[in-house]
Amino acid sequence: MKKIMTVLGARPQFVKASVVSRALREEASLDEVVVHTGQHYDANLSQVFFDELEIPSPNFHLGIGSGPHGKQTGEMMIKLEELLLSEKPDLLLIYGDTNSTLAGALAASKLHIPIAHVEAGLRSYNRRMPEEVNRILADQLSSLLFTPTLQAVQNLRQEGYADSRIVEVGDVMYDAALYYLEKALHKSKILEQLNHRPKDYILATIHRAENTNEILRLKNIFTALERINRLKGVILPLHPRTRHLLEQHFPGWISRLSIHIIEPIGFFDMILLEKQAALIITDSGGVQKEAFFYQIPCLTLRDQTEWVETVEFGWNKLVPPIDADTIYEEAQKALNMQGQASNYPYGKGNASQLIVQNLKENIHAHLDH
Ligand code: UD1
Repeated sequence: MKKIMTVLGARPQFVKASVVSRALREEASLDEVVVHTGQHYDANLSQVFFDELEIPSPNFHLGIGSGPHGKQTGEMMIKLEELLLSEKPDLLLIYGDTNSTLAGALAASKLHIPIAHVEAGLRSYNRRMPEEVNRILADQLSSLLFTPTLQAVQNLRQEGYADSRIVEVGDVMYDAALYYLEKALHKSKILEQLNHRPKDYILATIHRAENTNEILRLKNIFTALERINRLKGVILPLHPRTRHLLEQHFPGWISRLSIHIIEPIGFFDMILLEKQAALIITDSGGVQKEAFFYQIPCLTLRDQTEWVETVEFGWNKLVPPIDADTIYEEAQKALNMQGQASNYPYGKGNASQLIVQNLKENIHAHLDH
């Protein structure tokens, strides 16, 4: 029996790990130990995902909450190092591009524990994003690079990674989008609760540091959403980061907004709201892709995207939030945007099985890192 230690901490990682964990439970030769760093600690950003997605409770919870990057990542590393020494896993499994991903990669690599990175090879080529720094370093330190797209493979090759480290598996978020949709359609009552009908609303989410920490961008986005709300009602589950920054820079504004602001919601409610939306406006990587999976037009309020396929197939349009008028005009047009059928750029929905199969084959071999 070989031991895999999974490190996770933020909302999108719970979704990604849920499908891989399920596949790991079916593989008798591999044992998974789950470590939650505590990066996301609010119940509706963390516990609800463990409940709905049936992820076993973490074996270890490090309880490290919010903080500046160095402090948050450093505290995670200190505790992860202790755990890695006592648990002695054969491999560390990390997901995506958060500070939890980076802390895991740094701690394990110094202890010569091989690392596998799920969602490797993504690039925005914008190093001002903390996620870009995290993913570049996580890739560098990993022995196995599980890529979600062909573009990710090409990015890694261009940076000189050997083909022997790259494993093309597809996107685990596609697996999750397929697996949980049926459950969401049965279980979610969110439309009734919010008093909406399919296609009579626009779904929006905003949380990226590059938008929320830039006061002008934050103002442009919310000014535009207020105008768009007159075209079609906007529903916005508000990320705590965005709430704090709005309250800090524009006191009292949230309560005066006419868009429908709700608390962050669980995964079932989220994918149901996505599936039934007339349009999605977001700066999230996961939400952009879910829009694509469910064939919903999407505006991404960023300068670049790692998920270029969503744009190539015509379901997604990039709109840098540098002025409110442009966002409004693009939203008006996007309500009639229709993309093309795709040739499965995110794999076949079996990325998690391919990952587990590969881990099983490779964990017995000597992994270089
Ligand atoms: C993190 C990831 C981002 C990912 C996002 C998903 C990094 C650098 N960023 O961003 O890539 O897309 O998760 O949501 O790792 N907060 C709460 N309650 C919580 C968690 C956070 O109130 O449960 C607040 C705190 O004020 C905190 C702020 O949100 O300072 C930011 O949280 P943090 O985990 O640092 O980053 P996210 O913005 O969530």
